[in-house]
Amino acid sequence: MTWLITGGAGYIGAHVTRAMAGAGEHVVVLDDLSAGVPARLPADIELVQGSSLDGELLKRVLAEHAVTGVVHLAARKQVGESVDRPTRYYQENVGGLATLLEAAAGAGVRRFLFSSSAAVYGNPDVDLITEDTPCAPVNPYGETKLAGEWLVRAAGRAHGMATVCLRYFNVAGSAAPELADTGVFNVVPMVFDRLTRDESPRIFGDDYPTPDGTCIRDYIHVSDLAEAHLAAARRLATDTAGGDLTVNIGRGEGVSVRELITLIGEVSGDTRLPLVEPRRPGDAPRAVASAARAAAELGWSARRGVREMVESAWEGWLLHHPETSAR
Ligand SMILES: NC(=O)c1ccc[n+]([C@@H]2O[C@H](COP(=O)([O-])OP(=O)(O)OC[C@H]3O[C@@H](n4cnc5c(N)ncnc54)[C@H](O)[C@@H]3O)[C@@H](O)[C@H]2O)c1
Repeated sequence: MTWLITGGAGYIGAHVTRAMAGAGEHVVVLDDLSAGVPARLPADIELVQGSSLDGELLKRVLAEHAVTGVVHLAARKQVGESVDRPTRYYQENVGGLATLLEAAAGAGVRRFLFSSSAAVYGNPDVDLITEDTPCAPVNPYGETKLAGEWLVRAAGRAHGMATVCLRYFNVAGSAAPELADTGVFNVVPMVFDRLTRDESPRIFGDDYPTPDGTCIRDYIHVSDLAEAHLAAARRLATDTAGGDLTVNIGRGEGVSVRELITLIGEVSGDTRLPLVEPRRPGDAPRAVASAARAAAELGWSARRGVREMVESAWEGWLLHHPETSAR
């Protein structure tokens, strides 16, 4: 098979590309480089610079490379920005997906893997979130992921395409410092950013109904996530019946914000006490995946723990922010 990986120069996409190519899959990357970094890709991987909104380019790339499967990671991913610019998010995340599915169906592609997100669930009041937990996203970003899943399944049914939607929980860490997430949108880099600025990390609310009063999340190492894509791609390759599968990708274990900040203090050596600020609207007290379906359907489970995520993320942070170690 030949796989087209969209968004392959991004943080997660580069890990997925390396994992799949390293396992012997033939891959081609499409990325508009709006957030991607070509240097994250090994030299022997072909990178086509272009957008998932460009139907003509997609048709050409799919035909020229005789693509038989697509892994679609390209998307806008900032929740706050999605609230301010919902039309852009729907255009890129849903419109880009529709354009890609149209081109893929026309090119006879019969395998499609979609990057979804735990954001599709919103804030369910459950101990473990299963794939059957009702979806009720609370921001336009999550809405575009849920609409994306509907579109993927509908296109799969219409065109005899086997599909997998992976709902990632909180992704952290990196396989190598140069592959690190360079954005400051998730809690781990946000805490690093505070330390680099010589400021205390912030906790938004310590009066939640959780053991230490802070919010609990499920963190997944990006290398484990990349391996989940490989497992899903292998399953897709053998699915000739055009089935669809939706799977949570998490560890099935919760870590509180306070526990995470303590761990970051141990790893970075900067153990200053966090500042407790008021709750942020929309934060769920607890969001932890049930990882059972991924184990049963993909034969995949996370292997790496939270310390490994924080240590690798910190190494990446130091590489990209040398002012931190100079401080
Ligand atoms: N990072 C997380 O914690 C997380 C959690 C859940 C889901 N996701 C999803 O995983 C995917 C990858 O996220 P990431 O963290 O690697 O983000 P990222 O911004 O690092 O990667 C996205 C990549 O897609 C490219 N891109 C964006 N729009 C494009 C378009 N229209 N055409 C072609 N390329 C385009 C960007 O240049 C970038 O390289 C996204 O779909 C995101 O919604 C991420």
